[in-house]
Amino acid sequence: MRIFGELQDRADASAAEAARVRLNLSSVRSLVAVASPKGGSGKSALAVNIAATLASAGRKVGIVDADLNAPSVLAMLGVKVPRYLPMAEGIEPASGPLGIRLVSGEFLPEVQPPAPISFVDFADVSAEPVREPLEASHSAAVARMLAQTRFGNLDLLLVDLAPGFDRLHRLASLVMPAGVLLVTRPSADDARGLARIFAMRKRLGLPILGVVENMVGFSCNNCRSVRPLFPEGEVSRVTREAGIEIVARLPFDPRFAESSERGRLFAQEYADSPLAKQIAEMARRIAAEMNARAAEAGNSIDLSDSAEETAD
Ligand SMILES: Nc1ncnc2c1ncn2[C@@H]1O[C@H](COP(=O)(O)OP(=O)(O)O)[C@@H](O)[C@H]1O
Ligand SMILES: [Mg+2]
Repeated sequence: MRIFGELQDRADASAAEAARVRLNLSSVRSLVAVASPKGGSGKSALAVNIAATLASAGRKVGIVDADLNAPSVLAMLGVKVPRYLPMAEGIEPASGPLGIRLVSGEFLPEVQPPAPISFVDFADVSAEPVREPLEASHSAAVARMLAQTRFGNLDLLLVDLAPGFDRLHRLASLVMPAGVLLVTRPSADDARGLARIFAMRKRLGLPILGVVENMVGFSCNNCRSVRPLFPEGEVSRVTREAGIEIVARLPFDPRFAESSERGRLFAQEYADSPLAKQIAEMARRIAAEMNARAAEAGNSIDLSDSAEETAD
């Protein structure tokens, strides 16, 4: 077991670190955070399929797998973890299917499989304080991926966050995303977490793109109607009260979970399914909204639709 904090010269995020992140991301037209109040709501699976939809339409897309405790983006894309090669100029992203550029906590030399990584020294849990180093090391790892990965020119960089408001808060303190996509299950439990994020959004100036209500219902082969998987209504209520839009209400489709587990792209494998069509429509809306915001913000990066590689 390696302890991440031991391997960091300095674990706290600083203004200099934020400046390095901003400089490194200056070739990225739009940064979108994919966040959720709780885990298992579908952030990673949706991020991967949104990226695939846009990449297959010729956009240059990247994903930062920033859930360091449960990294899943590489597995969902069927990408084997490359050996990490320390580079003087930074971390070389992996090229996933459709040319999606990927960086994951799994790339960091400290996280080389099969050695597990911990953010806390369990041999020393009695020592105070435990929480701060843990938080700081996690943030440092995310900051490092954002500041050192050689993404090259990208239309869109999706940051697949670990669940919880604090992760979103910490990302925003490092670099404010151009948009935040919130993914949630329909349950009242998730809705409570969502309401907490809404309560903080004005203070932090979070540009929330909308809420994806995922796993809304299940339609089995022999059922006459769609069955809800969770008691519904609370997500709609808190979202409406906050004046936020629900951008999609997505059904549960077992093929989606199967594709993810096999490292296949559902959006391509089952492109004609209602769920894939909804994901594609959502991806197009996000891209259009991000393009409009980037143009408004005077972001001058203008990439062609060609798959041509740009020199990094
Ligand atoms: N609409 C859906 N239908 C079927 N399976 C889904 C759906 N959304 C997510 N899943 C599956 O649920 C599991 C949790 O999703 P994941 O993307 O890992 O969540 P998170 O990143 O928010 O923790 C994964 O196995 C994923 O494939
Ligand atoms: Mg995830």
